[in-house]
Amino acid sequence: MRHYYIAGNWKMHKSRSEAAELARALVSQLKDGKHKYLAAPSFTSLETVGAILKGTNILLGAQNMAAEEQGAHTGEVSVLQLKDLGVQAVILGHSERRHTYKEDDALINRKVRLALQHGLEVILCVGELLEEREAGKAEAVCEAQTVKGLEGVAKESLARITIAYEPVWAIGTGKTATPEDADAIHAHIRRVVGRLYGADAAAALIIQYGGSVKPDNAAQLMAKENIDGALVGGAALKADTFVPIAKFG
Ligand code: PGA
Repeated sequence: MRHYYIAGNWKMHKSRSEAAELARALVSQLKDGKHKYLAAPSFTSLETVGAILKGTNILLGAQNMAAEEQGAHTGEVSVLQLKDLGVQAVILGHSERRHTYKEDDALINRKVRLALQHGLEVILCVGELLEEREAGKAEAVCEAQTVKGLEGVAKESLARITIAYEPVWAIGTGKTATPEDADAIHAHIRRVVGRLYGADAAAALIIQYGGSVKPDNAAQLMAKENIDGALVGGAALKADTFVPIAKFG
């Protein structure tokens, strides 16, 4: 059966000491939490935060990684280096990577396969731009990103994949998709995964919603049949706002 999975994406925020303070607060306030949790600090804080999360119910996540194992790739961080720091999961294909840093589906797919090959869990982000939604293309865009992102991924690896539906127009803008609109896209992604991997795999797939999730809208979103958690940005930067989301309902 599916379980709820709430992840915090800290983006390019926090010094090591600030990250440590937040991690310690999350560990103490979520120790009785019933769901699956992840915190994804910047690369520079992974070691510090990893030491605090070790042995707790909060996974250590990275926000990106290179598509190659190692080599001449100035400024990139490899899967081997992430594993060396105890990273358990990686967020791939975030809209900021797709749109600001021009990562395409083929590159994201190489990263997905490499992360899985090295035993990491993956949060694969998909989502449409405002103009794509207004043109009635939201489902098609999310379908294409899902299909291309999962190309070459074996059925037995699918249990280590979470999809995060993040409409680009809702990220960091305070605009949230209505629970109904989000659920419709989640249902479509589940149908697409069902077509690729079968009904059992689709039924087990965790699909998070992301985009201005806050303490006051989390429970309504999570009540929807196909919404199995959240990928949280702004509200993940403080325990005061992340913990109520993580313990919604
Ligand atoms: P937001 O970001 O919660 O600040 O909208 C979500 C995300 O980008 O993962």
